[in-house]
Amino acid sequence: MKANARRAGAMTPLMLMAEAQRARRMAYAPYSRFAVGAALLTASGRVFHGCNVENASFGLTTCAERTAVFRAVSDGEREFTAIAVTARDGHGAPPCGSCRQVLHEFAPHLWVYWRNARGRLLKQKLATLLPHAFTLHKGRA
Ligand code: THU
Repeated sequence: MKANARRAGAMTPLMLMAEAQRARRMAYAPYSRFAVGAALLTASGRVFHGCNVENASFGLTTCAERTAVFRAVSDGEREFTAIAVTARDGHGAPPCGSCRQVLHEFAPHLWVYWRNARGRLLKQKLATLLPHAFTLHKGRA
């Protein structure tokens, strides 16, 4: 088992947030200096870490949440129950609009945890954060 795809029993929001803080340590953010970490919980109880990965061509930057989703999907996981996201202290970090859409592709019923500017843990269902998400009928492969 990879170190950053840990198995977990009952994972509380606070435990998942602690994983997001660990993930944040790996952020590559030399341009914005705004490190973000995400921890994505699968239905099978695994936790995938993601961090933001910036690029000199700014538009190529990938957010922490999408890094976590792509890692998990690449490892054969497609069912997710919750994601925790964290940024620097004093800064609330709910997922951006692009990440909400990517999360919705696999987990429309996802729980999303983040901290507000005072450090309090907030939680919302993804459907509340992204009402009327764009969808297409899924075809083969
Ligand atoms: N960022 C994330 O990682 N997740 C979000 O939901 C919003 C923004 C990153 C992208 C960029 O590296 C930095 O935060 C500043 O926008």
